Amino acid sequence: MSTYLLPDRNTCYQPTSITAENQIPTEEEQAYKKLDEKLKGLLATLPKDKGWRSANIYLHEAFMKCGTTWLKALMFATANRHRYSFSDHPLRRNGPQSAFPFLDTHIFLDYPITKFEHLPSPRMFATHFAHSLLPISLSSPSSTCKFVYVCRDPKDALISKWHFMSKLRSKELPPLSFNEAYELFCNGVSEYGPFWDHVLGYWKASQEAPEKILFLKYEDMKREPSVELKKLAAFMGMPFSAEEEKRGVVGEIVKLCSFENLSNLEVNNDGGGAQKFTAQVVVENRDFFRKGKVGDWKNYLTEEMRERIDSITETKFKNSGLTLGLTKNA
Ligand code: A3P
Repeated sequence: MSTYLLPDRNTCYQPTSITAENQIPTEEEQAYKKLDEKLKGLLATLPKDKGWRSANIYLHEAFMKCGTTWLKALMFATANRHRYSFSDHPLRRNGPQSAFPFLDTHIFLDYPITKFEHLPSPRMFATHFAHSLLPISLSSPSSTCKFVYVCRDPKDALISKWHFMSKLRSKELPPLSFNEAYELFCNGVSEYGPFWDHVLGYWKASQEAPEKILFLKYEDMKREPSVELKKLAAFMGMPFSAEEEKRGVVGEIVKLCSFENLSNLEVNNDGGGAQKFTAQVVVENRDFFRKGKVGDWKNYLTEEMRERIDSITETKFKNSGLTLGLTKNA
């Protein structure tokens, strides 16, 4: 998963895509429909395989279940720490999903995207798109846009994704067995492309331009949340002052954004909110929280399965300098 922020103008983002005033003007709607038809034609020519959520998935470049929700909360709380008190924080009422927009869904719901002008500074967005799919205007060295990327042991990403997708899966389809999900994952069949390619794309880019891309690991964040949060704040150009550290601001943000706190909020539980991903896909906030632990894969993978995933990881990341989730160095 990757999140990026644009310099300029910030308060809690209020999802606006479902209201009447957001209806796409007719001309744009027509242009979009034309584009949609063209894309459908193009998609029909792509290779396809069994899907996680629907019957088929089309193979193209492009990951998820690596800590997007957590990172959103941390970034929002950090950027707005002077604005809100921790006891009455918008994250407590609205949850992290409302903190800032998820671009991938706006592409489906609001195309063409023109609704971000009003967003306050710093403008922050979330996306799962692969680095190679980003427009040059965002990824080129001259762009002032910065990225924060979070990744995770692929074995835990697989388990998390299987649970998540099982909830979203069309009720008209039989349940996706774990073995099927495992095969799809190992074969790189995922909505955002193969896990390993996704991670490598951002890893390489972060090595080339560390000032532009901050590369984080879920496991490091779990082990030393304060250390990683300080890294994040400095990268965002909003380092914690000595006085803030003395007042315990770092600890307050860590606590506010912890799994235990966020997963128990009303908005992330029964009676809580939901996110509209596409016209057909609506995800309840509570589905973004499951266990929030490192190493849950041990409860699902056989030794043979672990070995296969670790071996793919080793091969794919060879000579890249990146280590992730290998059991011997986890
Ligand atoms: P598990 O399914 O392993 O529990 P994403 O936000 O990218 O969809 O990732 C979801 C994963 O992050 C889930 O992992 C979820 O439980 C975990 N998660 C969500 N909020 C978290 C938080 N505040 N701290 C740690 N993990 C969190």
